[in-house]
This record gives sequence, C-alpha cells and structure tokens, in this order.
Amino acid sequence: MKTNTLFTPLELGAVSLRNRIVMAPTTRMRAKMPGNIPWELNATYYRQRASAGLIISEATPVAPRGHGYFHMPGIHSPEQVEGWKLVTSAVHEAAGKIFLQLFHAGRMSHNDFQPNGERPIAPSALSSGGQSPVAPGVMKNCPVPRALETSEIADVIEEHKRAAELAKLAGFDGVEIHAANGYLLEQFLSDHANVRTDKYGGNVANRARLILEITEAVVSVWHGSRVGIRFSPANAGDGIAHTDRFGTYAHVIRELNRFELAYVHLVEPRVAGNAEAAQFDAALNSRNFKPLIAGGTKLISNGGYTLAGGTEAVRGGEADAIAWGRQFIANPDLVERFAKNAPLNRYDRATFYGGSEKGYTDYPFLA
Ligand SMILES: Cc1cc2nc3c(=O)[nH]c(=O)nc-3n(C[C@H](O)[C@H](O)[C@H](O)COP(=O)(O)O)c2cc1C
Repeated sequence: MKTNTLFTPLELGAVSLRNRIVMAPTTRMRAKMPGNIPWELNATYYRQRASAGLIISEATPVAPRGHGYFHMPGIHSPEQVEGWKLVTSAVHEAAGKIFLQLFHAGRMSHNDFQPNGERPIAPSALSSGGQSPVAPGVMKNCPVPRALETSEIADVIEEHKRAAELAKLAGFDGVEIHAANGYLLEQFLSDHANVRTDKYGGNVANRARLILEITEAVVSVWHGSRVGIRFSPANAGDGIAHTDRFGTYAHVIRELNRFELAYVHLVEPRVAGNAEAAQFDAALNSRNFKPLIAGGTKLISNGGYTLAGGTEAVRGGEADAIAWGRQFIANPDLVERFAKNAPLNRYDRATFYGGSEKGYTDYPFLA
C-alpha cells in the first residue's frame, strides 16, 4: 500500500492540492480602511504563502454586523470583492489554491461595529465575557447580545449565502464555513450559549440546525466539493461550554455527510488554550471523529503540529492534510522549509493583529 506524506498530492473535493500542508485561517487585521477592503499588501502576504497545498483565508465577516475585530477584510461589498480579486489572482499566479473563510462573530463583537450602534446578535442574550478589539490598542468588553428572533434567522442564512456568492465572484477556489472558536455558529451549537426554546435551541438536532441550513445554502452556491467547515470541539474560551462535547460534534459531523463536503477541518484539543483541555485530549482528538466522516470528504487536522507529528498523522491515515497557523505566519516558505527540514523563523506575537508590513510580509524566506 502506498504511504502518504505531507508532500503527496490530495484531491480535496473538486480541488487538486499539490501537497497536504495547509495554511490555517489566521486573522491579521490589515485591511484597507475605511470599508474593510483587501488590498495589495494582503495580496503580497497571501502570494508569499502560495506554495501551501491550500490557503484558507483569515476569518472574513459575511455582513457588517458579523465584524468583531478592527480592520478585518469583509465579503459583503463590491469593493471588497474587487480587493479579494487581487488576492486570489496573486495566489493563482503562483499556482496556489485559496478558500475564503466565511465568518460571523455573533456575540464576540461590540456595538462599535454594529449598524446603528445596536447590540451584537446571538442565539441568546448571554454574554461571552470576552473582549473585542475595536481599534488598535483599544479592547472593549463584549456586551450582552440580543437574541435573534426566530423570524430573523433566515437573514443570517441569507448573509452567508450572499457572501458565498461574492466569494465566487472574487475568484476563490472554495469556501470554509467557520463554525469554530466561539463565534456565531459555535454559539448556536453550545447548550450553554444557546438556551433558545424554538427549533434552533434545545436538543442537539435543534442546536445544529443553523449550521446545517447555512451549509445547505452555501453548497447551493458552490457545490459540496468546494465547501469545507471548521470546528473546534474542545474550545472552552469566550464562555463556550458543551454538556456533551463528543456527542454534539459527532451529531453535526454525521449530519454533514449528506452534503458530500470537500473537507471537515478540526482544531485539536491541545491548542484549546484552557485548563480543561488536557482532560479532553483522548476523546476529542480529530482522529476520533475521522471514522464518522463518510464518502470522499477529507479531514484536515490543525493545532500545535510539528513537522514530525504532521507527517505521522498523514502517514497513519489519521488525517488527510494538516493545517499550520502560527508557523505559516512566520514562514512564508514553510513547505520548502519542511521539505528541507530547515530551521523555522520564530513568530512574533506582538505583530499578529493589526499594523502593516512589519510581522506580516517581512518574514525572511530561506536564503
Ligand atoms: C494570529 C492568529 C489568528 C487566527 N485567526 C483565525 C481565524 O481567522 N480563523 C480561525 O478559524 N482560526 C484562527 N486562528 C486559529 C488558527 O487557525 C489555528 O487553529 C491555531 O493557530 C493553532 O494552530 P497552530 O498550532 O498551527 O498555530 C488564529 C490563530 C492565530 C495565532
């Protein structure tokens, strides 16, 4: 039997990847303002990283009210579509592939971002207890959000569908639905953040309903073979808790099988960044969900991987591809460095969020 390595090509749905080294979505907050528009600087950044088998863009708000961090590029205006075209053509010129990550912050936002200064929306009027960076150097507490009326949920689905259409116009190869890390879709899935009594709350089938309806809408635009979805089953940040984590995610992953998605993308418990993470390790590792994923849908695993660990996971068939976040921030040529087993640049946390070229497009390539 042929053994796969990180350098074995991969058919990810309808998209052919030249290797299995994926650039994880990483918010960098460097859009052109006003208007949250991607521009040449962002195109340069993504072009530098185009040797990844697949780039997944930074979280990209599907609507003005989906923003939760300053200077995020959006996917809800014609100017943003034109800006993203600079990015997608730069990546394609370098023979890379790029998906856009469809994002809605939900309650992880602040009135400062909201149309008419309204409260952010959420499944229920429960605060995350988190903070929202509203401007460089300015953090504000996320307020108690406003619970969506049942009749308003169709608008949220429509926002995702419209954004999926705009992503297509902008030249992406596909889209990833962001259902991880405590944002709107994970808020719906969590029985602590979601205490609704309508058909979008209560049992797991109801809590998963919005994710499934959004997936159906996005698949109607793109076809499942160009759609992925991301989950972080062990996430316990920003007020997120689940009474039955494995059962909840097992349900939604099984239900997603009917859409024949390109991939499911799972964040490993070891990067959940919380005290509980260790106790979840055994049950919530991505490999435990792999047997639930049917058909040709692939599994991308992410979080704290070394080159050796990623190689081992792909070789053993525990994952089909591995995504790296922080290492891709600091190493535009991560693929070449892995191929040569070369040393890696160290990432600088201070320049992760916001700013300009520094800590963004100035990390050195191998000499
Ligand atoms: C600066 C930064 C920004 C991030 N932004 C996003 C994001 O926009 N969407 C997302 O799903 N995850 C985001 N993440 C999480 C990463 O995709 C990834 O899960 C995390 O960095 C762990 O992987 P790693 O150990 O390879 O870095 C971000 C992480 C970092 C460090």
